[in-house]
Amino acid sequence: MTHFLDINKTSAAELRQIIDSAAAMKSSRNGRPKGMADDQTPLAGHMVALIFEKPSTRTRISFDVGVRQMGGETMVLSGSDMQLGHGETIADTARVLSRYVDLIMIRTFEEQTLLEMAEYADVPVINGLTDRSHPCQIMADVLTYEEHRGPIAGKKVVWSGDGNNVCASFIHAAGQFGFDLTFTGPEPLDPEQVFVEEARAKGVKVEIERDPHKAVQGADLVVTDTWVSMHDPQSARERRHNQLRGYQVNAELMAQANPDALFMHCLPAHRDDEATSEVMDGPHSVIWDEAENRLHAQKAIMRHCLGV
Ligand code: CP
Ligand code: NVA
Repeated sequence: MTHFLDINKTSAAELRQIIDSAAAMKSSRNGRPKGMADDQTPLAGHMVALIFEKPSTRTRISFDVGVRQMGGETMVLSGSDMQLGHGETIADTARVLSRYVDLIMIRTFEEQTLLEMAEYADVPVINGLTDRSHPCQIMADVLTYEEHRGPIAGKKVVWSGDGNNVCASFIHAAGQFGFDLTFTGPEPLDPEQVFVEEARAKGVKVEIERDPHKAVQGADLVVTDTWVSMHDPQSARERRHNQLRGYQVNAELMAQANPDALFMHCLPAHRDDEATSEVMDGPHSVIWDEAENRLHAQKAIMRHCLGV
């Protein structure tokens, strides 16, 4: 069974193949209307369940459109409307879904829910974000970087802000794609040490630098994300703002990165909190390409999982 659970759980060779396949599929659409199917429809006859226990704009729509472009069909399901939200175990849900659908994508809270779904499903399971990681996003980000600047291997990525789920997947990607990563943020919001150690063991530099101005020196890519994630208590908002204000990505900070540095944000953004509108809409920003590339990257991930 080929699941896509995390960037550090798929081999570097397979990840490379997924990125290359995403780029090829993207270029082969050549301005086709978005609702028109691809030339080849490898998902014809396939039914894909898209389960959301948290809100989503990009993940939901890009998976749904991606499946349809490849000739398949989708069911978009809210966790709370399923028996999953009323006490049926994840294992039993996984066994039942496997009798109806060919592929499951799930966005959930606990990583354990994703892992149990994968353990008991007889069909591939894709991680559409958990409290701990967001691998589909970072596949789109690698695709976006390489489209604009060529190979990401050997480059310096700087993450500024909260060491959250999206940051974790960037750290996984550093080890797998061979780029260096500097995290800059306050100590209480550091990324999990286990991810940092694991990436370092693969021979890349993963550094923690409290001073954002020092961190961005020599950066090829600067990335940030919301200061309060969906799994964080809303009561944390004020404290987070106080902790993270100094890590805002603004024009002054970007000016200290390499002149051709890119800026990314997975979105949704709180404009003028974690990044200013000047940066988001400015010349370094590739946030709209990043959002578009969710579609292409995930199409390649689904083909990888289904072997089609
Ligand atoms: N970036 C991302 O996953 O966005 P959504 O929460 O809108 O899916
Ligand atoms: N870190 C954010 C990412 C949203 C796509 C969250 O988990 O809410």
